[in-house]
Amino acid sequence: MKTFDIVIPVTFCALHELDEQEQQLVAAANKARSRAYAPFSQFKVGVALRLENGETVAGSNQENEAFPSGMCAERVALFYANSQYPKSAIVAIAVAATTTEPVCICGACRQALLQSERRYGKKIKVLMVAGKIVQIVNSVEELLPLSFRLSSKI
Ligand code: THU
Repeated sequence: MKTFDIVIPVTFCALHELDEQEQQLVAAANKARSRAYAPFSQFKVGVALRLENGETVAGSNQENEAFPSGMCAERVALFYANSQYPKSAIVAIAVAATTTEPVCICGACRQALLQSERRYGKKIKVLMVAGKIVQIVNSVEELLPLSFRLSSKI
């Protein structure tokens, strides 16, 4: 039997410590949050993605009264970005919710974001925000250790 530890480097900082481009991404995520449709959970989430081609794509959670038919903000933004700009990798994601602690991306969205990271062979920097506090993880792979893989070829 062998046991190993998985260490995930996480950086906490204040919003003003981010560079200009990242602060703008956080602002876009907060703006997107105001467009969430969350009448069932009242939990509004906003996301902004920065693409390699310079575009910013935003999304928010969209709920449905037939519960599983809704979608998280991350996947709303991600699938739009990948379908609209299939040649452009995503290089950063900012996620914002009205919470006191930085919101953590759910498991399903981590796996979906990881697919994009693998597809383009490019790390996605993850910024999870609550007000003026930011929690940073340098890639989705680090955010989702022991992830699902169909085969080593993908
Ligand atoms: N939600 C997101 O948009 N992103 C996450 O990472 C976790 C949860 C949404 C889904 C649902 O509309 C609401 O938050 C409450 O779970």
